[in-house]
Amino acid sequence: MIKVDVQCKSFGETPVLGKVSLTIEKGETVAILGPSGIGKSTLLRIIAGIDDDYHGTVVRPDNMAIVFQEPTLLPWRSVIQNLTLLHPDLSKSNATEMLERVGIADKSGLFPGQLSLGQQRRLALARAFAGAPDFLVMDEPFVSLDAGTATAMLELTETLIADCKPATLFVTHSQAEATRLATRIHTLSGSPATLDLITQKGT
Ligand SMILES: Nc1ncnc2c1ncn2[C@@H]1O[C@H](COP(=O)(O)OP(=O)(O)O)[C@@H](O)[C@H]1O
Ligand SMILES: [Mg+2]
Repeated sequence: MIKVDVQCKSFGETPVLGKVSLTIEKGETVAILGPSGIGKSTLLRIIAGIDDDYHGTVVRPDNMAIVFQEPTLLPWRSVIQNLTLLHPDLSKSNATEMLERVGIADKSGLFPGQLSLGQQRRLALARAFAGAPDFLVMDEPFVSLDAGTATAMLELTETLIADCKPATLFVTHSQAEATRLATRIHTLSGSPATLDLITQKGT
């Protein structure tokens, strides 16, 4: 369903990524694990189609959702508007139901600045799943949260993925998150960075 064949990616004269081959099927959750600065976000932007300045090819479905490290909400739009702007076909009751699922239905009329970071992330998750994506991409979606909130977000994400069953790619520096969520874990290491398979969960 998703087929990644990167030959190399450089910033100026500096190669950041070497050869990276990866396929992800519907229902799989693939984690890419690696330390800060190794090239995870660079690879994610290529796979998501945000960066096309690289050598190689990526095949991906059209119905894709991305959850960034920052919640990337529109500050001057209410919670429910942040959800429906991207999904104009979503009925009010379906939008409200989605907010209920992520636990922020009571914040519907507030603005993003009036939410905690955890609540903003919940809204970003609701927005990602509202379109029932075939391909979900997440870049360190649980960083900078306290341990309890991070665990709650992880459990919520797990439930949403189990219901929607997209092909999922998520990038993290946390072994614990990768082990918890992923059906397959790759590490990104070296300079320029390449992928290794470290774990495949039996199904
Ligand atoms: N737009 C850019 N221009 C130049 N260098 C960049 C750019 N984006 C990222 N880099 C460099 O590429 C490397 C990988 O960055 P990144 O993919 O953000 O790492 P990670 O997400 O694993 O922390 C870093 O050395 C970073 O400084
Ligand atoms: Mg990053």
